[in-house]
Amino acid sequence: MAMATAACRRPAVMLMAFAMAAAVTMSSVPPASGTTTLQYDFYSSSCPKAEETVRNVVEPMIFNDPTMGAAFIRLFFHDCFVRGCDASILLDPTSRNTQPEKTAIPLRGYDAVNKIKAAVEAVCPGKVSCADILAFAARDSAVVNGNFAFAMPSGRRDGTASSASDVARFIPSPAFHLQDLVDSFAAKGLTADDLVILSGAHSFGLTHCAFVTGRLYPTVDPTMNATFAAALKKLCPPPASGGGGRAVSNNQVTDPNVLSNQYFKNVAAGEVMFTSDQTLTSRDDTKAMVDDNAANPVAWMARFAAAMVKMGGVEVLTGNAGEVRKVCFATNTAS
Ligand code: HEM
Ligand SMILES: *[C@@H]1O[C@H](CO)[C@@H](O)[C@H](O)[C@H]1NC(C)=O
Repeated sequence: MAMATAACRRPAVMLMAFAMAAAVTMSSVPPASGTTTLQYDFYSSSCPKAEETVRNVVEPMIFNDPTMGAAFIRLFFHDCFVRGCDASILLDPTSRNTQPEKTAIPLRGYDAVNKIKAAVEAVCPGKVSCADILAFAARDSAVVNGNFAFAMPSGRRDGTASSASDVARFIPSPAFHLQDLVDSFAAKGLTADDLVILSGAHSFGLTHCAFVTGRLYPTVDPTMNATFAAALKKLCPPPASGGGGRAVSNNQVTDPNVLSNQYFKNVAAGEVMFTSDQTLTSRDDTKAMVDDNAANPVAWMARFAAAMVKMGGVEVLTGNAGEVRKVCFATNTAS
C-alpha cells in the first residue's frame, strides 16, 4: 500500500518552520494550571530517546493496522478537550473511580498507548508523561498516514482525575450544527479556522453506522449527495435492522487510510458522514475555509500541524502539577 512505502522514507513534507511559528500561537492559550509552558525537545536531557522510542513503536503498529493512526489522533483530541491534554482519557475504571472518561464513548487505541508507554519506560523509567506520549503518537500518525512531519512541543504532566460526566460537556456531538461546534472549540481557546482545519482528521479512520443512520433514514439528509447516500445505505442498513455497530470508513471516496485534505473535497461534494462535517459549508466564512483547504493540500498540512500543536497546548499541566504516571491506564496512587 502506498502509505506504507511512503512511511519508509522521510516524510515528503517537513513542516518544522511552521510548527515553530505555531508555538507563538500556542503561548496565547492560557494554561489552566501550571506555571511553565510546553517546549520543543523537552526530554533532550531527561530522556533523549523519548520521541524516537515512541516513533519506533507507533510506525510498525500502523503498518500492521493502517487504521491505528486515526485511533491515536482521535484519542489526542478527546484527551485535550476534556480536562486538557493530561492523559485523563487513558485511565481505567477503579473501585474509587468507576466512571472515568473512557467509559463515556468507546475509542480505539488504549492497548496500543499502553504498549508505547512500556517501551518508553524501558528506556527511561518515570520520565515521560502519558500526555506527551499520546501527543507524540498523534504527531507520528500524521507522519505515517499523512506523510507530513512536524515538531510537537512537550512537557505535559499527567492528571489524576477523570470523569465520564465531563465528556458529554466538552466533546462535541456529530449532530451539532456550526454555531455549537464553534462554541465548543472556542471553549478550548480554538477558533472556527481551527475547527475547520482539525475536522480534516475525518479524512481517515472509522465511524460506526449508528452515527450516520440519522442522516439516511427515514429520509436522506438533503445536504448529502444522493448517489453517495444510496451507496452508504448499502453499508449502513436501517437502525431497526441492527447494523448500527458496523464500522465504515470516514472517507468513502479515496484511500481511507490517508490523512489528507481529501476531507474538504468530500465536504464540498456532500460526501461526508456527520452533520458536524457538512455544516462547515453552512456559513460563508467557514465554507471559504473548506474550499481553500480543498484547493491547497500542502497549506492544509501546515495548518493541521499548527492546529494540532495548538490543541496540544489546551489546559496542560506543566512544571510540578500532576505527575508522570508509571503506567498510562492508572494514576501512581491508584489502588
Ligand atoms: C468537530 C467536532 C467533531 C465531532 C462531532 C467528531 C465526531 C466523530 C465521530 C462521531 C466519529 C466516529 C466515531 C466512531 O464511530 O467510533 C469520529 C471519528 C474520528 N474523529 Fe472526530 N469529531 C470531531 C472532531 C475531530 C477532531 C478535532 C479530530 C482530530 C483532530 C477528530 C478525529 C477523528 C478521527 C481520527 C476519527 C476516526 C477514529 C477511528 O478510526 O477510530 N475528530 N469523530
Ligand atoms: C453526486 O455524486 C455523483 C457521483 O459522484 C455525481 O455524479 C453527482 O453530480 C453528484 N450530485 C450532486 C447534486 O452534486
